[in-house]
Amino acid sequence: MEKATLTIGEQVIELPVIIGTEGEKDIDIQQLRAKTGFITYDPGYGNTGSCSSAITFIDGEVGILRYRGIPIEQFDRPNPDFIEVVFLVIFGHLPTRNELSEFKNMLRENEHLHESMKHHFEGFPPYAPPMASLSAMINAMSCFHPELLKLDEEGSFEEASARLISKIRTIAAYSYRHSKGLPLMYPQPDYEYCANFLHMMFSLPNKPYKASKEIEDAMNLIFLLHADHEQNCSTSTVRMVGSSQANLFASCASGVCALWGPLHGGANLAVIEMLEEIHKGGLSPEKCIEMAKDKDSKFRLMGFGHRVYKNYDPRARILKKACDKVLDKLGIKDPLLDIARKLEELALKDSYFVERKLYPNVDFYSGIIMRAIGIPTEMFPVMFSIGRLPGWIAQWKEQNEMPGAKISRPRQIYIGETIHNYIPIEDRK
Ligand code: CMC
Repeated sequence: MEKATLTIGEQVIELPVIIGTEGEKDIDIQQLRAKTGFITYDPGYGNTGSCSSAITFIDGEVGILRYRGIPIEQFDRPNPDFIEVVFLVIFGHLPTRNELSEFKNMLRENEHLHESMKHHFEGFPPYAPPMASLSAMINAMSCFHPELLKLDEEGSFEEASARLISKIRTIAAYSYRHSKGLPLMYPQPDYEYCANFLHMMFSLPNKPYKASKEIEDAMNLIFLLHADHEQNCSTSTVRMVGSSQANLFASCASGVCALWGPLHGGANLAVIEMLEEIHKGGLSPEKCIEMAKDKDSKFRLMGFGHRVYKNYDPRARILKKACDKVLDKLGIKDPLLDIARKLEELALKDSYFVERKLYPNVDFYSGIIMRAIGIPTEMFPVMFSIGRLPGWIAQWKEQNEMPGAKISRPRQIYIGETIHNYIPIEDRK
């Protein structure tokens, strides 16, 4: 086995090298502290492999993304099916016709919320951020399905994951309806996953909404492109929480909280706000680029840059193409798309962005498609959560089943005061 040699002062130690199936190289430092007293320092974990995983492969230098070995581009099909990808990501293989139809049946059986759970929405003010209600309600599922907290019975993991995948869209739609003071619509069992979600979002008791094929396909595509992305902030959070053996619902609720931030799942919303500001004339694309380069401005070009991709994000490439198609089919001319293209053009030839390898990421074009299909902007991070849920579930499962899995517990470099004495309050100056 290949070894890495580390010299610290007089001490020389050998550390095992692990090579992943795609040739990724890692130095196994598990014995480092025991052998040398040293730990590694890597804020933001840019060089830290927190686990080994068989779910998603990314080569950020080249711009490659694969789910269970299948290139992301191969899911960009005429009739994309998010649920097929959900099954693949969670269970590790493409479903047969039978498996897919059984899984879809499980989703159908689990699409309703417990009536008491529905009343929870009334406790939230109408201005509640939808990500807050989403994480709270996913966590609340632990109260309604205590039998699924342990998952030690045959089939209980399948049931818990089907419940989550199915109910998240009902919760998401209800949180939106509640915020608008609209009646909550029951799911339609004969609708497919995305059509059902859109029905719960937009139908009225006297005016049913049935998504067109174009809209349903666009929703499927957006969800499936978000299905997993290896050890990003929210997924690492889910694994971290799950490592304490917290249940699946609690772990996934924590994933929603991590995703909420504008540097992660909230970026799609921030992109649209930025594009709208440019459109309204508050900012020009050129000014936007200048501000993004100015370190004093704290402004970032949202939807650009990625911790892992130092090349074009392959999901952004698919979505850029889909933008044209969807807007064209729906007969929509969105000036924000022209502005996004202009920003991309300016950034890709600007030395600041070129040197730092900053390219459009998944969020740069997804918001334009979601706007076109009528999703309100405040719901954008919620859409990301629905899409990312299969990844969180799969990663939680993988970690739980890993032999010798340990609770996650990083160390730190203490930089506070050294020891000094307690001073009674009457003696303090
Ligand atoms: N606009 C302007 N400058 C940027 C940007 C940007 N969007 N992104 C990175 N930089 C600069 C950054 O200031 C730094 O410059 P310098 O070397 O001079 O200090 C350099 O590029 C490296 O950036 P970093 O912050 O060290 O990179 P990171 O890996 O820590 O951050 C990121 C990655 C995604 C948080 C960041 O690129 C960013 O804030 N992008 C905008 C928010 C965004 O679009 N987020 C969605 C990410 S994709 C969805 C997901 O998977 O969550």
